[in-house]
Amino acid sequence: MDKILIEGGAPLRGTVHVSGAKNAALPVVAAALLAEGDHVVRNVPDLADVRTMGRLLAHAGCTFERVAGSPSAVAVRTPRTVNPEAPYDLVRTMRASVVVLGPLLARWGQARVSLPGGCAIGARPIDQHLKALAALGAELTLEHGYVLGRVPGGRLRGTTFTFDKETVTGTENVMMAATLAEGRTVLENCAREPEVVDLAAALVRMGARIEGVGTHQIRIDGVDALRPLDHDVIPDRIEAGTFLVAGALPGNDVTVSGALPAHMESLVEKLRATGATVTEVPGGLRVVGDGRPRPVDVRTAPFPGFATDMQAQMMVLLALADGSSVITETVFENRFMHVLELQRLGAEIAVDGKVAVVKGVPCLSGAPVMASDLRASAALVLAGLSAQGVTEVRRVYHLDRGYERIESKLQPLGARIRREVA
Ligand code: EPZ
Repeated sequence: MDKILIEGGAPLRGTVHVSGAKNAALPVVAAALLAEGDHVVRNVPDLADVRTMGRLLAHAGCTFERVAGSPSAVAVRTPRTVNPEAPYDLVRTMRASVVVLGPLLARWGQARVSLPGGCAIGARPIDQHLKALAALGAELTLEHGYVLGRVPGGRLRGTTFTFDKETVTGTENVMMAATLAEGRTVLENCAREPEVVDLAAALVRMGARIEGVGTHQIRIDGVDALRPLDHDVIPDRIEAGTFLVAGALPGNDVTVSGALPAHMESLVEKLRATGATVTEVPGGLRVVGDGRPRPVDVRTAPFPGFATDMQAQMMVLLALADGSSVITETVFENRFMHVLELQRLGAEIAVDGKVAVVKGVPCLSGAPVMASDLRASAALVLAGLSAQGVTEVRRVYHLDRGYERIESKLQPLGARIRREVA
């Protein structure tokens, strides 16, 4: 297994460019199942999760390949009929695989999709996806670890459904399903994340009729058929946010090109509260970390609140603050796995349920650490960059699920970081 080795303490200066958003690209690529023909999606990051989505589509009978000469673009060819199955071996490596369920039911009236199972950051059920798809007329049963779906009459029917809980992939799954349903669907208590909005934009370009995205109520008028996709994915606000936190660490000055300020307001507000200077520059954001951060309290929440996917990275900055901060994780029940590893680097953090109290220390000290999930790994890299001595991050495959060659993006900024290939 690969390792990332970081010799901390080198100041970071310069510009880093953000890739396309993983969490937007995954559902957008899955939307190719909704229409026969040749699809093109651009600004798709080359990540393990995207390759898994490619394998899922290939298992269904589609072709999925990078476009020669334009490596950030992906071409998908969807045949007239597909094998409507997502097998366990693929789904277990990526929970987002469940977003193929809605498109398969909508287009083929049947699906066999493995249940995702447990996850390092919490139980993560998919009950809301299933309830909403049942409300659209799908008959769903659970057998041998799989969701078996069948649509009597072959076509979903528009309905009104209220999610009990805001769910990002749930909203995406059901919105995709409703695009081909008969009649109008009204979804209440929808997620408002930019990735949901980006997927809706892609679907509208395919001929879907969708209103209200970016609010809690989405209205979809079903159409008989959709055209192939032709879409550019939005920049990754979490990758951008990770680099912004890197810039806010003491002594750094980083410009994140491609960062969209409208997607990152909560983070920018918190970074400013720590004393970092964040300014909008043409095409991105610049952050200067001036001296020791001030402590701030952070509470994660669905968009436009502070993203749970930025909680671990923000904790690193606060671990170096001049005072104590309280971080409350409200989205996932078990998303403090990084704390034990940060403690190994000398951070002083006490966790009680959903709350972490972070007592800032003047400096961290490098050590071997183990990544537990994607954003936890990013936090460990940030911690390693600011720690004294060498930090060795193991289980880098978590990092590679969501960050495109993070070490090659950080090296030009002056980071002493390298990958040791096993
Ligand atoms: C998406 O996951 C993201 N993944 C996650 O990013 C992100 O952390 C999360 O949204 C929250 O922003 C993708 O977009 C591929 P949810 P998702 O359904 O959709 C509960 C990363 O690091 N819930 O919005 O799976 C759930 O347990 C990842 O890139 C139910 O109870 O998250 C959680 O507590 C990790 N029943 C809350 O809702 C359901 O049916 C929000 O989860 C669905 C969700």
